[in-house]
Amino acid sequence: MNIVLQPLQSVGPLESILRERTTVRAFTDKPVPLVLVSKILKYTLGFIDEREVPEASGLPEGMRKRRSSPSGGGLNATEGYVLIKNVEGVAPGVYYYDPHSHMLHVKSTELPDVGSLLSGQHFANGIPIGLFLTSRFDKSWWKYEHSRAYRMALLEVGHVAQTFQLIATALGLGTWPTGALSEKRIEPLLKLTNPNEQVLFFVGCGYGDGVITSGELASLV
Ligand SMILES: Cc1cc2nc3c(=O)[nH]c(=O)nc-3n(C[C@H](O)[C@H](O)[C@H](O)COP(=O)(O)O)c2cc1C
Repeated sequence: MNIVLQPLQSVGPLESILRERTTVRAFTDKPVPLVLVSKILKYTLGFIDEREVPEASGLPEGMRKRRSSPSGGGLNATEGYVLIKNVEGVAPGVYYYDPHSHMLHVKSTELPDVGSLLSGQHFANGIPIGLFLTSRFDKSWWKYEHSRAYRMALLEVGHVAQTFQLIATALGLGTWPTGALSEKRIEPLLKLTNPNEQVLFFVGCGYGDGVITSGELASLV
């Protein structure tokens, strides 16, 4: 039996963002205002006070924090390290985003070409902001068996990455995701101290010129 579905109907304000989100691979050198970076980080990784689960729930404090994206077991195993290349008033570098205090903490001030961190995708060198998403596997292992913990980590990072892209799109920025990471080059920049924390994904954004395939990539293809 076939069921004829309703023709497309409005889904409210999210609809235009869903239509507009697209991967872009070339960015202009227009700096991104810090206020936009703050908004993106707060709604991508920051804890949202209004969403905190009440103490009366009986959950321990560490499991009551909530983000805008769902989290495997509510453990918030995903962490974010912000690559800043061209943000108004902020020195280039890599910064840890603290979701509790909504602050950036400097990790590295020397930035190599972004492309060299991302498997030679040098068309991304001009990207003004990026977010390396890591996962604290030690948190997930507490609740999930090994392979399931790994799946949870990947899925959680995927949710967070999509949220980043939708917020950046809503703020008029172009977005670029990549899983082609050069871990050995990235890890020293993030200064990870916990051996159970691993980098899994990168999402970047900035003012684009609507180019989906950069000139370098197009000539390769
Ligand atoms: C898990 C994942 C990995 C990706 N890795 C890359 C990448 O390494 N380089 C790249 O240019 N795009 C990458 N992309 C972007 C895809 O190429 C893009 O999403 C796809 O072509 C669909 O286009 P759209 O995002 O505009 O809908 C990746 C996307 C996902 C979800």
